[in-house]
Amino acid sequence: MTTSYRNFRMVDYVVYGRGCLSQLDGILAPRRQGERPMVFLVDAFFKDRPLAAQLPRRGRDPIYWVDATHEPKTQDVDGIRDRIVAEHGGASGVIGVGGGSAMDMAKAVSLMLTNQGSSADYQGWDLVKRAGVYKVGIPTLSGTGAEVSRTAVLTGPVRKLGLNSDFTPFDQIVLDPDLIRGAPAEQRFYTGMDCYIHCIESLQGSFINAFSRSYGEKSQELCEEIFLRKPQWDDDADEKLMMASYAGGMSIAYSQVGVAHAVSYGLAYVLGVRHGEGNSLVFDQLEEFYPAGVRDFKEMLVRNGITLKRGLTRGLTEAQWDKMLDVSLGMGPLWENALGKDWKQQMTRDRLRRLYERI
Ligand SMILES: NC(=O)c1ccc[n+]([C@@H]2O[C@H](COP(=O)([O-])OP(=O)(O)OC[C@H]3O[C@@H](n4cnc5c(N)ncnc54)[C@H](O)[C@@H]3O)[C@@H](O)[C@H]2O)c1
Ligand SMILES: [Fe+2]
Repeated sequence: MTTSYRNFRMVDYVVYGRGCLSQLDGILAPRRQGERPMVFLVDAFFKDRPLAAQLPRRGRDPIYWVDATHEPKTQDVDGIRDRIVAEHGGASGVIGVGGGSAMDMAKAVSLMLTNQGSSADYQGWDLVKRAGVYKVGIPTLSGTGAEVSRTAVLTGPVRKLGLNSDFTPFDQIVLDPDLIRGAPAEQRFYTGMDCYIHCIESLQGSFINAFSRSYGEKSQELCEEIFLRKPQWDDDADEKLMMASYAGGMSIAYSQVGVAHAVSYGLAYVLGVRHGEGNSLVFDQLEEFYPAGVRDFKEMLVRNGITLKRGLTRGLTEAQWDKMLDVSLGMGPLWENALGKDWKQQMTRDRLRRLYERI
């Protein structure tokens, strides 16, 4: 039997260090094509904040503000792509500045500037036909691993699913711990827990290999240091969280996430619960699957002063229940990674519904 190992594409260039955003102008210069602008897609949180003025805009470079109060939708991506074409005739590159939402938006817009139709047509695996325009990711929140991953997660008319392809990773990422410094503690915690949960799910999954384990273990160790042992949050914690997110994302390259993500996708689709918070709400109930990880997670909640919402699934209609269970059970690879090939026998609709009822 021949085994086929994934030959995965990675980010081309990485710059890491406090203040490294100041190098962006020089990094972009050789990528500029004539009059075509560099388009900055920036999380609307930064409107009227100093970061906007630090972005090295030249000539007609526009900023499009990304409303990250909801996670990106295929129609948002198509809309921004259409505006860029109408207002600028195209772009030399797209630079996403923000959390996972703004970064995913940038990846998707870059791809949709060169691929026909709607981004909804490309939700899935390896459906993207052409490389996008040059794209740069600049995180202002750390944890999702969106800065290194080969997906851009979008909510479309029928499903929440990424544009997973070799063309999706950024050409360049700028990891500047100064940019995550001001993040509100609660948001930082939830996005950070996305990373912690990636590690637990990847390391305990059946797809794990030494490549993924090496990154996952380091990432988990960093998360435990900053969320479980540090007496207070400081610059060192931001630096470590940024690297935990990077390593956590790398860990998933050869493995997969698991139960918390599969269940959380259903919450996101039906109730609009955000990724990091949804994962946390679910993970809190997963002692039977990840006993040690959940025990430490509960201690992290207390140490970081976080109180989880409760009773989210009360009062759902039967149609909403059906959709939520369908979305979650549709995440086959996640369940297989967590529970093995016979996952369908283990995770029945009834069992999954009872799990949701506890959230
Ligand atoms: N592509 C991937 O591999 C991948 C992986 C996991 C999650 N995701 C996606 O990432 C998204 C979640 O990303 P996230 O958790 O980073 O949050 P986010 O990008 O959704 O942002 C959460 C909130 O924080 C605000 N914000 C961002 N940076 C801030 C800062 N420095 N200070 C204050 N507020 C700030 C935003 O305006 C928003 O209101 C989801 O859409 C999810 O689907 C993608
Ligand atoms: Fe995640």
